[in-house]
Amino acid sequence: MEAEQKSPKTRGYTLGPFQFRHGLALAPMAGNTNLAYRRLCRRFGAELTTTEMVSSRALHYNDEKSLSYLERGDDERPVAAQIFGNEPEVLASAARRVEERGFHLLDLNVGCPVPKITGCGGGSALLREPKLAAECVAAMCAEVRIPVTVKIRAGWDDENKNAPEFAAAVAAAGAQAVTVHGRTREQRYTGRADLELIRRVAAAVEIPVIGNGDIIDVASAQRMAETGVSGIAIGRGALGRPWLFTQIIAAFEGRQVPPDPEPAERAALLLELGEGVCALYGEGRGMRIMRRLSADFFHGVPGAPALRAACNSLTELSDLRSLASRIADQAGTARDERDRGGSRPS
Ligand SMILES: Cc1cc2nc3c(=O)[nH]c(=O)nc-3n(C[C@H](O)[C@H](O)[C@H](O)COP(=O)(O)O)c2cc1C
Repeated sequence: MEAEQKSPKTRGYTLGPFQFRHGLALAPMAGNTNLAYRRLCRRFGAELTTTEMVSSRALHYNDEKSLSYLERGDDERPVAAQIFGNEPEVLASAARRVEERGFHLLDLNVGCPVPKITGCGGGSALLREPKLAAECVAAMCAEVRIPVTVKIRAGWDDENKNAPEFAAAVAAAGAQAVTVHGRTREQRYTGRADLELIRRVAAAVEIPVIGNGDIIDVASAQRMAETGVSGIAIGRGALGRPWLFTQIIAAFEGRQVPPDPEPAERAALLLELGEGVCALYGEGRGMRIMRRLSADFFHGVPGAPALRAACNSLTELSDLRSLASRIADQAGTARDERDRGGSRPS
């Protein structure tokens, strides 16, 4: 008898009171993963969502703008807040603020490659200071009861890919899970995520490891799952494509993968997102955010370049409504032509 072919899948994991069946997370992305977008991804199956990174110093000093990034919906459970910094006492104080605001998990950013952050010793600069990083994690864990997790990169550069040892150091200091983006700081977002290294991290520590980098479809999610990770975090691949979570879950569960939604459904999702973003930030700021977020919704939609160009001039919710109906109309025209066998009237 032939052996049953099983689809590769993640192991799932538990953090505090939370069980993650497949461990599918939306990776934090500054400027993109606001509460409205996180809600959309959650509806399509994301089990864990995270705020964009917030400065621990700013939280420590109660900076209003930074506190505004720590928005959380009561329907969002579990949700993590992500903070960055490199001073144990300041991080502990920020951790307390996060816990007071009702977040279920707290994540330390050890991945950000931006010089403004690394220049002050935060983000991926901590990869070069595993001892200090462990002190930071220990101080945060001592201050709060919610689980503390850490998001790291493969290492600082090609010569210093220390993710397995680094993960072991923060686990020993109390971190309960680690997410690994398989690129070095030097790579920023170029090249490919190193899956072999992620496999080594998963083998090196007892705590759950969440694999991250270049997951854009079912096949890439399965390749990541094969490294032995407990969960996966999806960043850019989920921008404009929140339904990717549903597709990956179906594949992990051995069910037929649903197709991408029709353009009319995407248009409805885009509008829903725009309304959510405006409800959070007001129409002016909301539409500025939507100029960036909208463009991602047109992959494979007929007339995408013109639609993307129209995103740049979004100023009011009514502009987004007309954009959404243009998507639906163009899709309808394309479908009619297809149904007529692609022939055009002569
Ligand atoms: C625009 C943008 C903003 C990001 N902001 C954050 C952030 O605030 N915190 C963080 O840990 N990672 C951040 N990242 C990194 C992503 O979480 C993720 O690790 C990276 O994009 C690789 O995963 P992907 O290939 O699935 O996108 C950001 C990435 C992008 C593209």
